[in-house]
Amino acid sequence: MKTKLIAPSLLSADFGNLQRDIEMLNQSQADWLHVDVMDGRFVPNISFGFPVMKTIRQHAKKFIDVHLMIVEPEKYVEEFINQGADLVSVHYEACTHLHRVINLIQDKGAKAGVVLNPATPVLMLEDIIADVDLVLLMSVNPGFGGQKFIENTYKKIAETRDLILSNNSTALIQIDGGVNLDNASKLFEAGADVLVAGNAVFSVDSPEKMIELLKI
Ligand code: DX5
Ligand code: ZN
Repeated sequence: MKTKLIAPSLLSADFGNLQRDIEMLNQSQADWLHVDVMDGRFVPNISFGFPVMKTIRQHAKKFIDVHLMIVEPEKYVEEFINQGADLVSVHYEACTHLHRVINLIQDKGAKAGVVLNPATPVLMLEDIIADVDLVLLMSVNPGFGGQKFIENTYKKIAETRDLILSNNSTALIQIDGGVNLDNASKLFEAGADVLVAGNAVFSVDSPEKMIELLKI
């Protein structure tokens, strides 16, 4: 997979015009579509579930990465893959048996990612880094779009790069939360491969242009 990827988050799309927004993203330089699933338990917000995921897959022509912000994700990963997820990410903090969940996702034919909240140290990934396809570093506390980027993320990108190198891992580094034109190029420079952007993309008049600019 090539690096410097942009994954617009559909959490900030217009749900009344979801098909229109997805078709716009199909025509844009967006690389992935980021789908945020929230359960009101792991995070203090509820977003959407399988029927919306199905609709997204019906219209999307791009790689779909599903970010599960839910407790007991092992109960639901298979269904998200059946509904068309190309990659499923689960939170380190939500998995009692992380290794088992990562294996389950891959056995069902999808790529597997592990997510760290801002306060979870990168070193917790030492014994799983060789097995995952992606590390998602949260740069805000998960639950809502439009929050302020946490600067400590740069330190965590450097630590994740070191961990990946020392374990011969092929994992991509994804950053999620508060990504915008002020920090996107710095994040890519620091070693990020995939940037999620919700508010930055959907709050402007030309999301397509913004996606292009975020890649520069
Ligand atoms: C936050 C979600 C993010 C969110 C990002 O819990 O995981 O994917 O949509 O939104 P922005 O880019 O607006 O911070
Ligand atoms: Zn997300």
